[in-house]
Amino acid sequence: MLSIIDLIKMKIKIKRPRGTRDFTPEDMHRRNFVRKQIESVFKRYNYQEILFPTIEDVHLFEIKSGGEIKEHMYVFEDKGKRKICLRPEATASVCRMFVDKLNDMKKPLKLYYFCPMFRYERPQKGRYREFWHMGIELIGSSSYESDAEVIAIAYKSLKNIGLNFDLEIGHLGILRGLMSELGMDDKIQNRVISYMDKNDMKRLRDIIKNKIILNLIKLKGGKEILGKAEKLLENYKNAFNSLMELKEILNYLDIEGIDYKINFGVGRGLEYYTGMVFEIRIDALGSESQICGGGRYDNLIELLGGQPTPATGFAFGFDRIMNALEIQGIDIPDRYIDLIIAPVNKEVKKNAIEIASKLRERFIVDMDIMDRKLGKILEYGNEINAKFALIIGSDDLSRNRVTLRNMRSGEQKKILITELIDKIDRELNLNKELHK
Ligand code: HAM
Repeated sequence: MLSIIDLIKMKIKIKRPRGTRDFTPEDMHRRNFVRKQIESVFKRYNYQEILFPTIEDVHLFEIKSGGEIKEHMYVFEDKGKRKICLRPEATASVCRMFVDKLNDMKKPLKLYYFCPMFRYERPQKGRYREFWHMGIELIGSSSYESDAEVIAIAYKSLKNIGLNFDLEIGHLGILRGLMSELGMDDKIQNRVISYMDKNDMKRLRDIIKNKIILNLIKLKGGKEILGKAEKLLENYKNAFNSLMELKEILNYLDIEGIDYKINFGVGRGLEYYTGMVFEIRIDALGSESQICGGGRYDNLIELLGGQPTPATGFAFGFDRIMNALEIQGIDIPDRYIDLIIAPVNKEVKKNAIEIASKLRERFIVDMDIMDRKLGKILEYGNEINAKFALIIGSDDLSRNRVTLRNMRSGEQKKILITELIDKIDRELNLNKELHK
């Protein structure tokens, strides 16, 4: 094996791990802009941010996450011989945290998170080994309104950033109820749901011979299909009750003006779902078209050692949302800074630093620190999208003033140093429209 010294001598470039990405300042500006837009919707529904560790005890995800996730986990033994993994999803961590710390808080708890997840999958466009989840969990309510609220938040967040998408809602309580009534155990139920999730009709037909199940999961459409489902399920009490539950949730969504399709074939790759489930897709994204997944999971908290506590939530695949914005040609405003300060010679540098320091209490200010000529500083100012340049020259300074240049129009004004903040504020306000 080569030593570090050998690597340095051979000038071998060290690559980033497969399936991970670097984000440039431009990328981060775009991602933060979108994050804030989505966050603003979460906050308007009174959700509060939480954070949990990047690494977790591997058992947390072995309890109820399902084969697919387990297969793709990054697992390692730490120096204390504990089996640790990089978190592949957030819901189990949030439930662990709830049991640890939040159990005594007034319900319902409305929580959101934005953090990277890790899954050792085969990387391709839209599928990464490190990717970001932005999601919410609503803990402590089993009401129809809480399921409707969660779906509405996902829908409105995506509308808020201007995306076009398809929302499909199903209900695993219906399917699980039906399968239980037909005598199918949990293990088979999980397999059925996993095949549904992968759209693997062949394997599905191999394990299910029952026509009612096959007909049910094929049902997809508007509210008109509810009648068909009722007919199919009329002799199966538990499944029928869950169908009525779904109806109630949909009624609330209608009040909020949410556009959706019902799809009884929505499966989900995670095993903890017990009730309503939903997915959001943008077909133009190709094979990785699902940008959001969620649903109700009423048993997970109890399975993790807590009191029986109902919960519901979802997670956006944030990276796929960024890809979708690009595909749908949705503009993200450029980043601007307020001012570039241009000292015209070395003699005025100290005054320039003093002025910059004062202005930074209020504005976003850059300043030339390369002793460049005025022309070059203005070029740099254009490059970094400065709205104004503040030119500081010896003559002006001797009269207690500086020159404010509008970078877009080229118009210049002399301003007294004592009036700088007010005048710059005024100019920025007057030119707001120019920099949208
Ligand atoms: P999930 O469907 O496994 O659900 O993940 C949510 C979203 O993460 C997916 O819809 C997809 O957009 C994105 N995603 C998944 N894997 C990758 C990947 N390798 N690269 C890029 N994006 C990916 C969950 O994890 C649940 N915890 C959601 C939830 C929250 N359910 C209830 N509360």
